[in-house]
Amino acid sequence: MKFTFIMLGTILLSAGLTAQIKLTSKNIDAVIKEMTIEEKANILVGYSFGKSYWGLPTNPDPNAGAIVLGAAGNTAKIDRFGIPHTVFADGPAGVHINAERPNDTKKYYCSGFPIGTLLASSWDTDLVYKVGAAMGNETKEYGVDALLGPGMNIMRNPLCGRNFEYYSEDPFVSGLIAAAVVNGIQSNGVGVSAKHFAANNQEGNRTYNNAIVSQRVLRELYLKGFEIMVKKSQPWTIMSSYNYINGVYTQESKDLLTTILRDEWGFKNIVITDWTNTRNTAAQVHAGNDLLAPGNAEQIKQISDGVKNGSIAIADVDRNVKRVLEYIVKTPRFNGYKFSNNPDLKAHAEIIRKAAPEGMVLLKNDGDVLPLDSSKKKVALFGHTSYGLYAGGSGSGDVNKPYVVDLVEGLKNAGIEIDETLTTVYKKYRDYAINEAEAEMGPFSSSSYFPRPRVKEPQMGVFTYTYAAERNEFAIVTVGRSSGEGGDRAFEDFNINSEELDMLKQTYEAFHNKGKKVIVILNVGGVIETAPIQKYSDAILLAWQPGMEAGNSIADVLTGKTSPSGKLTMTWPEALADVPSTKNFPNGFTWRDEMFGKKEEINKLPNLGETKYEEGLNVGYRYFQTEGKKTAYPFGFGMTYTQFEYSGAEIKLKGGIYTATVTVKNTGKRAGREAVQLYVSAPKSKLVKPVYELKAFGKTKELQPGESQKITMTFSNYDLASYDESQQSFITDEGVYTARFAASVADIRQNVDFKAKAQMVKCHDVLKMN
Ligand code: BGC
Repeated sequence: MKFTFIMLGTILLSAGLTAQIKLTSKNIDAVIKEMTIEEKANILVGYSFGKSYWGLPTNPDPNAGAIVLGAAGNTAKIDRFGIPHTVFADGPAGVHINAERPNDTKKYYCSGFPIGTLLASSWDTDLVYKVGAAMGNETKEYGVDALLGPGMNIMRNPLCGRNFEYYSEDPFVSGLIAAAVVNGIQSNGVGVSAKHFAANNQEGNRTYNNAIVSQRVLRELYLKGFEIMVKKSQPWTIMSSYNYINGVYTQESKDLLTTILRDEWGFKNIVITDWTNTRNTAAQVHAGNDLLAPGNAEQIKQISDGVKNGSIAIADVDRNVKRVLEYIVKTPRFNGYKFSNNPDLKAHAEIIRKAAPEGMVLLKNDGDVLPLDSSKKKVALFGHTSYGLYAGGSGSGDVNKPYVVDLVEGLKNAGIEIDETLTTVYKKYRDYAINEAEAEMGPFSSSSYFPRPRVKEPQMGVFTYTYAAERNEFAIVTVGRSSGEGGDRAFEDFNINSEELDMLKQTYEAFHNKGKKVIVILNVGGVIETAPIQKYSDAILLAWQPGMEAGNSIADVLTGKTSPSGKLTMTWPEALADVPSTKNFPNGFTWRDEMFGKKEEINKLPNLGETKYEEGLNVGYRYFQTEGKKTAYPFGFGMTYTQFEYSGAEIKLKGGIYTATVTVKNTGKRAGREAVQLYVSAPKSKLVKPVYELKAFGKTKELQPGESQKITMTFSNYDLASYDESQQSFITDEGVYTARFAASVADIRQNVDFKAKAQMVKCHDVLKMN
């Protein structure tokens, strides 16, 4: 039936009608005048692979998916106006397309960039721009018109399965980093899709979850990052999320997609849906959801029928069509760009190798064990992840990369000798243990689309550890975690399990008995428990999931070739229960439960059908710092191989912009970079506010010992505002504020008071909690 319809449509489009005009950037209105209602409907509905994606019904055009194999979807083409398909491929850690094509020996690999969390942890918008520019180049050179990224939801809870794609618990970090990525990617003349707009803060039942959240919390936390990013980078597209907010699907919410996004923030481009075909088409069109992706034949029919029977306004259709055409005329494919299918992966590997250490976070370094003394050449590697590092997370955010440099290779490249006996044991063990873990997990467990099962560490007797301590000069223990789209991490995934504890303890005791040191590498995409690691280590390097040069980047940091200069963009709690949102967060609900469960029953389960954001603004440091609650590591924390002193902090107001400056001096013995954070405390107000909130940040260049640099950070009066629901406005209270120049949220170095004038920015009374 569907097939008949589309065939009929195609015949009508190609046979009966011939256009006088071909689309250009200057004649969009004229083209719209010429278009039939079927053609308009067509252009508002995406074409996916031409085969089932996630089991969804798709547009049955047999040729639609073949443009770039493995890309997530296309826009429709209309030959008579010279409108080609344009292509969307996933991000955000690189371009997600198939590496192999039928009857083609060439490999279409894309670079595996570091995960979003690592990039944000660099606190370096210039670096992030540069990484974005490299990703954008691969996007363009593989014939893709827009990359489906950045992912920028707020890390409400440590267990969200996609946190690795996201930037921070703080909207200023998220917004400013996302803007840099978007500007970098778009500098190539390709687009992005900033996602998932909005409040898609859990993966559990993500397509039906109803986020119950107050207007103030939405405005200040969950929308703020998007607001900053939109104003600073005008992404070509924004992806509306799957979930509901306060009972309305975001994809059907005119309040969100038009009133807030366009009328209040000035967004000029298109909104596309996250990949589903199961929403109310008329409501989506009306809301300003310009493109329905991945798209199916029924939606095309619903739009044209809707216009004919009056349930969809032609004005809404024309408005959306205009925006989609404005998008299309910007794309490389429309403009006939001759892509090479040959981006410079070598050059990008260099960028990746150098970028990753900037976002790695040194959490502990007792007795300056790092960088390694150059005489230390023999290492015992523990932890199965040492022999198969996670370069990134799973799901659409994964990339078909040419290789991943593991730790063995990275250390060998750096001239360090690896204990071969242990290597043999671990490699054998991994083959067996991964198979076993996959078998336990059941269907699809070997698919790299889903998170890798958590593999138990081998239980080795005390002799293995003591013998290793005798033979080697130091030990590295890697603790790894994998997570990804479609599922949240379970509570136990946060914790160090008994096998890991045993490995940490035995390694530490054996090596310390011989006066030798233990370095722990965290190869994770999200926050984990660290108390046992802190106890059984001399140094801890949070390497995140650092992309395809993983082993080389880690080795560069360990040997001191580069200094780690990342800082945490989220709080690391001591226990999961310390995080207020944990009580309203699903425990490890995954795509598997969703696939094999019944929707109606799932929707009744706590925190799946509905999630109450009862913690309000008490997310991350806004809670821990305000309440004086102990953390494992506070927001903004990260050590370097040197120390910095802050002096001469000042704030000046000019043209409505506050410019905050501070001089940072390297007072230590090694070169390094410092990420400087600016928090602001507001004067007493009618609204209860966090003790202070981040408003800006900056990073020094690499400073040599004794060298100083003046860091400049800016913010506006509007950035100081809080959202007052009683007035439906962002209000900046008049009074004296304190700017806190800080090395972390818990390490304030200089305070400067400044005065701000009252300001009220009126907003719309929308997205109300019922
Ligand atoms: C994900 C998006 C992704 C899209 C296309 C969805 O399932 O949520 O992030 O861009 O698929 O692959």
